[in-house]
Amino acid sequence: MTLSVAPSFEYDVQRTLNRLQPGLQQRAKSPAEWQAFEQNLTLHFPRLFGLLRSLYGDQYDFFYHLEQILHTAFSSWQARSAALKKQDKQRAANPDWFRSENMLGAACYVDLFAGDLKALQEKIPYFKELGLTYLHLMPLFKAPAENSDGGYAVSDYRQVDPALGTMADLKKLATALRKEGIVMVLDFVFNHTSDEHAWAEQAKQGDTEYLNYYFCFEDRAEVDSYERTLREIFPEIRKGCFTWREDMQRWVWTTFNSFQWDLNYRNPAVFNAMAGELLYLANAGADILRFDALAFVWKEKGTSCENLPQAHAVIQAFNAVAAIAAPGLLFKSEAIVHPDEVVKYIGRDECQLSYNPLLMAMLWNSLATRKVRLMTHSLQQRFPIADDCAWVNYIRCHDDIGWTFDDAIAWQLGINPDHHRQFLNRYYTGQFEGSFARGVPFQENPQTGDCRVAGMLGSLVGLEKGLEEDNAAVVDMAIRRILLMHAIIFSIGGVPLLYMGDELGLLNDYSYEQDPAKRNDSRWVNRVAVDEATLAQRNVQGSVAERVFGGLQHLLKVRRQWPVLGAGGTHILETGNIHVFGFTRFRDDEQLLVLANFSETPQSVSQDFIRGAYSHADLFDLLQGEAVPFAEGRLLLAPYEVFWLQARS
Ligand code: GLC
Ligand code: GLC
Repeated sequence: MTLSVAPSFEYDVQRTLNRLQPGLQQRAKSPAEWQAFEQNLTLHFPRLFGLLRSLYGDQYDFFYHLEQILHTAFSSWQARSAALKKQDKQRAANPDWFRSENMLGAACYVDLFAGDLKALQEKIPYFKELGLTYLHLMPLFKAPAENSDGGYAVSDYRQVDPALGTMADLKKLATALRKEGIVMVLDFVFNHTSDEHAWAEQAKQGDTEYLNYYFCFEDRAEVDSYERTLREIFPEIRKGCFTWREDMQRWVWTTFNSFQWDLNYRNPAVFNAMAGELLYLANAGADILRFDALAFVWKEKGTSCENLPQAHAVIQAFNAVAAIAAPGLLFKSEAIVHPDEVVKYIGRDECQLSYNPLLMAMLWNSLATRKVRLMTHSLQQRFPIADDCAWVNYIRCHDDIGWTFDDAIAWQLGINPDHHRQFLNRYYTGQFEGSFARGVPFQENPQTGDCRVAGMLGSLVGLEKGLEEDNAAVVDMAIRRILLMHAIIFSIGGVPLLYMGDELGLLNDYSYEQDPAKRNDSRWVNRVAVDEATLAQRNVQGSVAERVFGGLQHLLKVRRQWPVLGAGGTHILETGNIHVFGFTRFRDDEQLLVLANFSETPQSVSQDFIRGAYSHADLFDLLQGEAVPFAEGRLLLAPYEVFWLQARS
C-alpha cells in the first residue's frame, strides 16, 4: 500500500487507541472503574505503543498482541483492591516517598529467618525495632524441590511454595507490613522460569506455541553461533549457556542453571504472559519488584546478549504497563554489570531503584587496600543519577561479590584491573598474607581466571578470624569495619539495604558443603538461618551481636533526624588523604560533610581542605553529638572512624 501522506506517530497512537478502546470499555463494571483506568491509559499508552511497536511491530499479528496486553492490564486493574488503588493515589501525590531519610531496607529468606510466612509476620516487632520500612522477601514461589537456585527457578508465579504458606498468607503479611509502614519487595524473576513451569512442561510435550516461549534449538550449529559471543555465568556448574534435553532432543538456552530456562522475549506472547504475572504480584501487595537478572532478557546473535537496547525497551514497556494498571508500583534493577551499563537501567520510566554494585565493590576494595582512590574516582563518575530515582546501597546480599569496577578508571590510577581483581579474590578468600577475611571462592573459572567471592559480612570483615583466635583486638577492628561501611550506606544517598543476619554480625555457615543440592553453589555460605536465640543475643550486654546491632541503631537514630541524609544531592570529594573517603550531602540550605577513615591507623585531613570544600564554621559531629576541634590545622580520625559533620556557627 502506498500512502500519500506519511502518518505521524501521534496519528498512529490515536488511531490504534481508538480501535482498542471500545473492546476494553465494554468490559468495565462501572463508569468510575473505566474512568480511572482510561486516565492512566491516555497518559501511558503512547509510550507503551512506541516501545511495543519497536520490539514487535514487524510481526504479522502485532495488533492482536497489543490488544491482549491491554486486556491483561485492564483485568488486573479490575482486580486491584481499593486499598492498593488508594495507595497508588497517595504515591502519585508524593512521588518521592522512597527517598526519605526514614527509608531502610532489609532482605531475608522466609524459611531461614522465620520458617514460614505466618511466622514471619510475628517478626514484625523486630523489623520495627530495627527501623525497617522496606522488606525484600527472597523468592518464595513454587519451585523445583531439589535445587531451585534459592527460589530463582520459579515454577508458578501465582503459588507460594507450600512449605512457606499460601497466597492468602502472603497477602495478609503484605497488609500487616503496610500497616506498620513497611513496604514489601518481591522478586520478578522474568528472565527465566524453572523447567517445571507449566509453559516448560508444554514445551517438553513438543507444543510449538510453548517451544516458542523459550529458546529451543535442534541444531547445534545454531547454539554454537550464539555461544561464540556469550559469557558463562555459572562456569563451575556447566560449560556454555545451553542445556541438552534428551527428552526433547533439543538444546535449551539456560544462562544460569540447567533447570532455569531463559524466556524468549522476541515472542510478544511471552511479554503479555509475564506482564500478567507482574501485575499479579503487584495486586498481591508487592510495592517494589526486584527485576532479577534483567541484563539478560534480550538475545541477539553476535552480541554478548547482555544489556542490549531491546532489554531496556522490554523493561520500559513493563514500566508503562505498570503505570497503567498498578501505578504505585516501583521497579528495582538488579544489574550487576559494568558501571556504565548499571546506570542505563535507572530512570522514572524504567527502574526507579537500582542496586549499587559499584559502591558495594568499592567499599570492599577500600577495606582491603586501605585506600579510597578507586572508590572516589569511580563514584565521582558513576554515583550521580536522576533526581527522582534512588540507589539501593548495600554491603552484602544473598549473592557473591563481583569486582565490577571500570577498568579504564583503574588504569588511570595506575592499577592493573585484572591483577587487582586477582588480589581482591585472594584477599577475601583469605589467601593473601595478613588478610582478615574468611570468604569462599564462587564460580572460579580456570580458563578466564575469573572468580567471585561469597561470605557473610562478619566473616569477610574479620569477625570470624577474631572470634576463632579469641583476639579481642581483631574482633574490635572487625566491628569497626562493619559500622564504617554502614555509616556510609546510611549517609551517601539512596535506600540503604541490610542483609538479614549482618545486623548481628553473623558468620559463614559451612553446612552447605554437606548438602548435595547446595554443595556446588558456595553462595549458600552466606545464607544463614537466624533463630530466636540468635536474635536474643542483641540484648546480651557486650556480645558481638549487641555491639553491632547497637552501633547500627545509633547510626539509624541519627540518620532519621536529618532530612539532608534522605533526598538530596551528593558530592564525592578528594580529601587529600588516600585513606579517608569523603563526600558532602546537600538539600535546600542544609549541608553535611561525611568523612571515613578506611585504615586501622589514625588519619587526618587538613583544615584547609575542609574550609575549601565545605565550610568555615565550627564543625559538629552528629554521630558523637559533639564539636570536633582541629589540632594543628588538622582534623583527626581514629581507626575506621566516621564523622557526619555539620557546620555550626
Ligand atoms: C540473580 C539472583 C541470583 C540468581 C540469578 C538467576 O542474580 O540474585 O541469586 O542466581 O539471578 O536467577
Ligand atoms: C547474576 C548477577 C551476578 C551474579 C549471578 C549469580 O548474573 O548479575 O552478579 O554473580 O547472578 O550470583
